[in-house]
Amino acid sequence: MAVHGGDLRAAREKYGDLDFIDFSANINPLGPPRGVFEAIDKNIAKIIHYPDPNGWGVKTLLGDKLGVATEQLILGNGAVELVYLLAHALKPRTAFVLEPTFSEYSRALKAVGCQIRHTYLNPLRGFELDINDLELADCDILFLCNPNNPTGSFMSEEDFVRILDLVKKHGTFLVLDESFMDFVALNKQWRSFRYLREYDKLFVLYSLTKFYAIPGLRLGCGIGSPEFIRTLGGMKDPWNVNNLALAAGEAALGDAAYSEMTRQCIETEREFLINDLKKIAQLKVFPGFANFLLIENLGEPNGERLVDALANKGILIRNCGNFPGLGENYFRIAVKDHLSNIKLVSGLKEILTNT
Ligand SMILES: Cc1ncc(COP(=O)(O)O)c(C=O)c1O
Repeated sequence: MAVHGGDLRAAREKYGDLDFIDFSANINPLGPPRGVFEAIDKNIAKIIHYPDPNGWGVKTLLGDKLGVATEQLILGNGAVELVYLLAHALKPRTAFVLEPTFSEYSRALKAVGCQIRHTYLNPLRGFELDINDLELADCDILFLCNPNNPTGSFMSEEDFVRILDLVKKHGTFLVLDESFMDFVALNKQWRSFRYLREYDKLFVLYSLTKFYAIPGLRLGCGIGSPEFIRTLGGMKDPWNVNNLALAAGEAALGDAAYSEMTRQCIETEREFLINDLKKIAQLKVFPGFANFLLIENLGEPNGERLVDALANKGILIRNCGNFPGLGENYFRIAVKDHLSNIKLVSGLKEILTNT
């Protein structure tokens, strides 16, 4: 099993039954839109029926929100299910993955026997993608994540267009994970799926679990050409998204005010964290564009010792030691509500300036 953030059971086992503030998973600090809880209550009796295998209600709302046809959408039990479905459907022989990134791309590729070429984003360039690093000759599939987890780095549309030329030239299938795009300020946001018109070997991942704070319910989506979506649909579990996740998704997508409130909260709190963390001399903060920050710790205690010291204060962070291309000296924190952020900063100050 891969290690990810957000494992509260493991934290309780290790540190005791504390009331943890969890900075280790990148979930919207506002919690789900209010309508989500009502929708679950209202639909609880539906668990005696099978769910709609097509999830038309959610697809219609998503189609309107994203500006794509419902035939271009496939729903998943989280975006991750679709990473595995895609790998299973395409069975690529060779893949290109830019590290550090979300580890499930490589896990899904390895599960189908794929050879993976890894290249490493450079911390000295703020982990920004350099197109010259992409060697796509004989490469069946390229995975990109925008904004990238865990670096928060962001690919511009201009860079994407150049990458599109490259994948077209080599016939490489391109997967772009936009699971954190909703958190990006509206004046910076752009969506890649409109390029499906010119290149149909493009598949975009979109998660609803982070932005709508429902990781325990699971709901994600993929956007591709209608033909490819039909192929994937023919290979998936027919009832992969349950009735309560569908009801929650419909309620969440119907709440437009929540999206704007979220982006404002993230922008304000991210600035607060960046400014306050910069005052701790041994920390180097990579600001990023999403609802999390990657931090390099140039001093001690580091790695698991820092994780333990914070956890004993009831604060969980994500040690990035298991991301290829990073080491124990990197950790990631989610941007949370103001009070939690203050507690994190003061916890870090106590630990890092007392040693
Ligand atoms: C980049 C990225 N994509 C997708 C996911 C998973 O999304 P979901 O919960 O919808 O499966 C994660 C989870 O951490 C992630 O970091």
